[in-house]
Amino acid sequence: MPDTPDKRTSGRRRRHRSVIPLVLVMHTRRVTLQEMPGPVDTRDPRGLRSDAPLLDAWLRFTERAAAGELTPMSVPGHKQRQDLVGPVVAGDAPLYGGLDTIKHADVLRAEGEARAARLWGADWCRFSVAGSTHGNQALALAVGSPGQEIIVTRILHRSLLLGLVLAGLRPVWVRPEMDPASGLPGAVAVDTVRAALRAHPRACAVYLGEPSYVGTIGDLAGHATAAHEAGVPLVVDAAWAAHLGFHPDLPPHALAAGADAMVTSAHKALPAYTQGALVLARTERLDPARLDRAFDATHTTSPTGSIMASIDAARALLARDGKDLCGRLLRSVAAARQRLRQVPGLGVLDGPGVEPTKLVVLLAGTGAHGIAVEADLIAAGMPVEMADRDTVVPIVAMADDEDHVAAFTETLVAAVERHRGPPRHPAPAAAWTVVPETILAPRDAFFAPAETVPADAAVGRVSAELIAPYPPGVPVFAPGELITAEALHALREVRADGGRIAYAADPTLATLQVIARPDR
Ligand SMILES: Cc1ncc(COP(=O)(O)O)c(C=O)c1O
Repeated sequence: MPDTPDKRTSGRRRRHRSVIPLVLVMHTRRVTLQEMPGPVDTRDPRGLRSDAPLLDAWLRFTERAAAGELTPMSVPGHKQRQDLVGPVVAGDAPLYGGLDTIKHADVLRAEGEARAARLWGADWCRFSVAGSTHGNQALALAVGSPGQEIIVTRILHRSLLLGLVLAGLRPVWVRPEMDPASGLPGAVAVDTVRAALRAHPRACAVYLGEPSYVGTIGDLAGHATAAHEAGVPLVVDAAWAAHLGFHPDLPPHALAAGADAMVTSAHKALPAYTQGALVLARTERLDPARLDRAFDATHTTSPTGSIMASIDAARALLARDGKDLCGRLLRSVAAARQRLRQVPGLGVLDGPGVEPTKLVVLLAGTGAHGIAVEADLIAAGMPVEMADRDTVVPIVAMADDEDHVAAFTETLVAAVERHRGPPRHPAPAAAWTVVPETILAPRDAFFAPAETVPADAAVGRVSAELIAPYPPGVPVFAPGELITAEALHALREVRADGGRIAYAADPTLATLQVIARPDR
């Protein structure tokens, strides 16, 4: 049956304008508002489009698509129809040929990225539709050459380890200090980085993760000085920290602290679409052309304009309302921490070395098991980012209002009370305690012939695969590292506790992939 115009646009959006009622009823008293704002465009409720060119383009494109004005003879293949796979593709607009013509979209993109660069004090910025995962890999490709050493935190995200594989860089691991009370990692000490730089004077960069997955923060300015004195750039995986620097009570962001480049996930701390990320750099010690090459080498050629527009919108929001929204976030988290501290045995990470908007809940003193608490929270419709036996990490973001965070906190307290047991000492998770022995560079190991062996027989062999409990996604086994009985035991404990063993060829851990022996 031929398509009719009605069918093409079935499920289309209407123009979403709502008018705020002129009269509000408060406590049965009629209050007439003197200064009523004009009509609110529900598709741009805070009026960001005038400062967000990609958002503005997305709004214009999707409005025309919804009105049935477009017959695109280009990708994406859903052709703006919702009668084939349904509204799962609603709002999808390509950057190239959607937000602008294929020939001009880069100008539009560059305008959005330039605004972000200005906001973060960078002179180079790219928007990624592939998360900080892509950003880490792009930066790894930008800082050195195959065979060069790089100083890297061992509690790196697995994306950076694969970045080292792509770039052929040889990691010189630096380990964070551990907090014995919580079993969680603190920051990497500046002296540790200085010592590594002295021992490896040909290293091409220092690459740290700040804040850590559990929100611990260190002396980034000190790291920047140490790196710069050694003549190398400081690069920071700030995946969780897109909001830092936008309120006087928050630590500065990595670039403001002196770093040369940072990657941050707009979809984590900011209200952007899943996968949205920014890569930002100052180019005194990094070559902008090389940064572009590295970024483009690993990015899709068909970025979705929806994600890009949401990064642009989140940046405009941060620029205008960031201080207020971060203020609310700071208050919500402070109130949650205070409430949780009143519960016998329950702890929270706090203090000068902890990012003030990160809520990390320590359960060991209550005897409650984190996986059981997490199950209750999931059942209550409040899934958290991470839970293991001793720790629960909810993500509180600027999108959460204070009531929402308070309601979550009470639900969490009730779940802890339901699962209370004898207090125990926290056991540091495998991800934080691994002490790697690197036998082969990650890239050499990645491409070396591998074989599958029973896990117990793999002890003493060299890992061919990356295995990480996820979250936090920190590799316990990495390609090229010696497989130890302790690390295998720690991984098995994670699995027995209900944790997700990610990226393993055999997630049951019955077998492991090891580098084949040369005689085979
Ligand atoms: C420290 C760190 N870096 C990078 C990433 C990857 O971020 P994305 O999910 O945006 O690709 C994560 C993901 O959780 C992370 O924790």
